[in-house]
Formats: sequence, C-alpha cells, structure tokens
Amino acid sequence: MTESAEIGVIGGSGLYALLDHVTETVVDTPYGPPSDSLFLGELDGRRVAFLPRHGREHALPPHRINYRANLWALHALGVRQVLAPCAVGGLRSAHGPGTLLVPDQFVDRTSGRTQTFYDAVPLPDGSVPGVVHVSAADPYCPVGRSAALDAARGEAWEPVDGGTLVVIEGPRFSTRAESRWFSANGWSVVGMTGHPEAVLARELGLCYTSLALVTDLDAGVETGEGVTHTEVLAEFARNVDRLRTVLFSAVARLPKTRDRDCVCSHALDGLTTGLPGVP
Ligand code: ADE
Repeated sequence: MTESAEIGVIGGSGLYALLDHVTETVVDTPYGPPSDSLFLGELDGRRVAFLPRHGREHALPPHRINYRANLWALHALGVRQVLAPCAVGGLRSAHGPGTLLVPDQFVDRTSGRTQTFYDAVPLPDGSVPGVVHVSAADPYCPVGRSAALDAARGEAWEPVDGGTLVVIEGPRFSTRAESRWFSANGWSVVGMTGHPEAVLARELGLCYTSLALVTDLDAGVETGEGVTHTEVLAEFARNVDRLRTVLFSAVARLPKTRDRDCVCSHALDGLTTGLPGVP
C-alpha cells in the first residue's frame, strides 16, 4: 500500500464525501473490510483520509459497522488523528437542532459490540494481541477538541464545549422514559456510533475527537411524535456545508503527527500490544 494520510475523518449520517480531488483506496484489514473505500486527498498540505462510517450509500446501520476494521484501516494508512462528526439527539432543550457539541465524555449503553483489539484471538498473520488495558478516563483528545472548538468559533458557530454523549445500541431511537433518564443523569446528547469508535482509536494510540451535530431533540425533551430518521437526515443536510468548513479548519489546526504529545499519543507507552504495526 503506497497511499498514506496523517489525519482521518469518519463521516456520519449525511456526510458521505469530504474533498473534491481524492484517490479511492481499498484497504483490507485483519478484521475484514471497513465500511467503504478510503478517500485520500490533501487539505492545506495535510494528507487526509475520509471514510463514510455507514458506507457511501448509508447501507450499514450503527450496530453493523465494523468499527475495528475502520480504525485499523485508518491507522494502517498512517493516520494518527481522527475527527469524527456524528448526528446526535439533544437531551436538553438548550441543545436544539443545529447545535454543535464537542463532547468530553461518553456513556456506553450499547450491547454486544466488540470494543477491543486486545482479545487474545490470533490474527490471520499469526500475531496474538496481548492483554492491554488503556485508560478511557478522558476518552477524547484534548488537542483535537481544542482544534474543533476553535474551528467552529472561527466560523461563528458557537459550539458547546464538553458534555456527555450517551451511545445507545439502536437502530431504534430511545423511548421517552429512556430519554428522560438520560437527561436526568446529566447527559447532554444521544447517538448510536460514538462507541466503540473512541476507545478503539485509543487502543491504537490515535487521537480521536467527536463533533456531535444535534439533529433533533430526543423523545424525552421534545413534545411531538418523537424522532424520525427523515428529520435527522434533513437537519444534517441543513448543516453539512458549515460542518465541512469546520472540519477543514480543524484539520489545519491539528499538530503534525511528530508533534503530538497528548494523552492519546502516550496511550500505549511501555506496553507490548502484540498487534502488527502498533504502536
Ligand atoms: N442520532 C440523531 N438523533 C438521534 C437520537 N435522537 N437518538 C439517537 N441517535 C440519534
């Protein structure tokens, strides 16, 4: 594989392409195929790999996404920093549609998703992953978060700095009772893809930043009929141009790979991972 990139963008519902001039690259991984080809291009002199999380035709529901293959493919291309936009529901009336929230915590309410590379199952090449426990205390990259927040402010889109993203299994939306419970716990937004993406990135020593675009008020907050997929896609479409602009600006603000010195870049320090090419 000759193609490479330093920054990855995983596009969520409604963001299926990022750059105009790209090379489409198929990447195979020990975990099977990623959601789609990776689309490599250049932005302000930075090599960027774009991956549509649900596939370019949105064929994959959140629980069918091969999160391990996606993160592995990005890492294999040389990516060390990931920006991850996603559609979410607001759990507070203050976080209405069109809000951009850069979470600093998540809560995992998914079930049955493989959330580790370190499960001691031999890979096709015979490598055996070790037993590795990474810290998830602060699951998002502080440097990436600052870059995303500054980028949004630079576009006059005042972001919400921090908050907890609760990740549900889906594909159904939450009941009103679930949603009220999430709000009562103080959580800010609800989505379906933030886990295990963030922790798998950490397990590879990648910087990972979530940019959560609120597309609806979740069932416990709104007073109407409840969330619909159509509503989510329509609100995402209304915001996709400025989201793309924020992503471009965030990419330009990220440090060079060699200058990374955040908690994520040190996640595997002193550990023997047993994974080929990691760290
Ligand atoms: N994605 C967008 N809106 C959502 C919601 N209300 N719940 C879960 N995931 C979502």
